[in-house]
Amino acid sequence: MDTLNKLKQFDAYPKTLEDFRVKTWGGATVTIISGVIMLILFVSELQYYLTKEVHPELYVDTSRGDKLKINIDIIFPHMPCAYLSIDAMDVAGEQQLDVEHNLYKQRLDKDLKPVTDEAEKHGEELGQADDGETFDPSTLDPNRCESCYGAETEDLKCCNTCDDVREAYRRRGWAFKSADTIEQCKREGFTQRMQEQKNEGCQVYGFLEVNKVAGNFHFAPGKSFQQSHVHVHDLQSFGLDNINMTHLIKHLSFGRDYPGIVNPLDETDVTAQQASMMYQYFVKIVPTIYMKTDGEVVKTNQFSVTRHEKVANGLIGDQGLPGVFVLYELSPMMVKFTEKHRSFTHFLTGVCAIIGGVFTGQSLSSNIQTELV
Ligand SMILES: *[C@@H]1O[C@H](CO)[C@@H](O)[C@H](O)[C@H]1NC(C)=O
Repeated sequence: MDTLNKLKQFDAYPKTLEDFRVKTWGGATVTIISGVIMLILFVSELQYYLTKEVHPELYVDTSRGDKLKINIDIIFPHMPCAYLSIDAMDVAGEQQLDVEHNLYKQRLDKDLKPVTDEAEKHGEELGQADDGETFDPSTLDPNRCESCYGAETEDLKCCNTCDDVREAYRRRGWAFKSADTIEQCKREGFTQRMQEQKNEGCQVYGFLEVNKVAGNFHFAPGKSFQQSHVHVHDLQSFGLDNINMTHLIKHLSFGRDYPGIVNPLDETDVTAQQASMMYQYFVKIVPTIYMKTDGEVVKTNQFSVTRHEKVANGLIGDQGLPGVFVLYELSPMMVKFTEKHRSFTHFLTGVCAIIGGVFTGQSLSSNIQTELV
C-alpha cells in the first residue's frame, strides 16, 4: 500500500476536485473550434500521406541498341497531303528509306474537318488510285513491266505506277518535273489529284520507330531525293506558289508518358508570316526510367526544345528547304524516377502532433477562460 502511494507521487496530471470543474459556454466553443481545426489538419495530413513520393536519380546512360519511338500528331492547315512528304534521317546524313513507320495522313478541308473517312497510310498516298474514278488498276496486266524512263536500278526494274517512277527518279537523284509526259502518271491523274487537293490541309499522326542515335525527321512539300549528297525536294513539279508552313503540333513525344511528364511542344501553334518558311526544332532527348510502386517500369524519354526559323529561298539543302524539321540529339545522362509510398510512421507522428498540439491549445485557452470566470 505504501509503495502504491509512493507511485501516486509520479502522477503528472493531478485531478482537480469535481467542484472546481466548471463547464462554460466559452469552453464549449473552444472545443468545437479545436475539433474542426483538428479534422482539417488530419485530412490534409492524410491526403499528403496518400500521395506518392518521387525520387529522382541521375546516371550515365549505358543502355545500347534500343529503339526510339517518336509519337507524332501535327496539323498543316495549308499543306495538302499529296504534296507533303515525311523523311527520317539518322546521324550519318543517310536517309532511312525503310524506317519502320506507322504514320497516317488525313486530308483536311479549309475548316480542318476530315475530307475522307479513312486516313491513308504514309507511303501509299499517290499513284494508287483507290477511288477508281480516274483509273481502274485491275484492267492492267499484273505481270506487266513498264518503263522507268531511264531511271531503272537493280532492285527497281519496273515502274508500274506513277509513284514507282517518282521513287526511281528519287533514287537516281533526278528531279521529277513533268508528270504529264509520264504515261503512268497521266493514267492515274497525278496532276488532277494535285490540283484537287490544292486548297486542303493535312494531319499527320502515328509513330516512327528509329535507331537510338541522333537524327532528324521532317515534313516538307515535295518528294525528297539525294542530289550529289544534298537533300533536295522536287518542289518544281507542283507549281506551288505560296508554301505556307503554318503548323499546329498537337502532340510530339519520344516514348510513353509517365505521371507528371511535360511534353513542351504539345499544342504549339505556329503561324507562318511569310511564304516558304523553314522551321527547325532542336530537340535534346533525356532518356528516362520511371519505376512505379507496383513494380511497373516505364522506359521513356523527356526532351527540351529550342526553335529556329528562317525564310528558305533555295530549294537545295544548303540554303534550307521550306518545311518543319525536327533535329534530335540524345543526352548521355539518364534520369531515373522511383515512386515510393510515404512513410506510415511519419504519418503517425504528424497525426499525434496535431492531436497533442490542438489539445494543449484548447486547455490553455480554457484555463484563461476559467480565470476570467
Ligand atoms: C498562312 O496561313 C495563315 C492562316 O492560317 C495566315 O495567317 C498566314 O498569313 C499565311 N501565310 C502566308 C505566307 O500566306
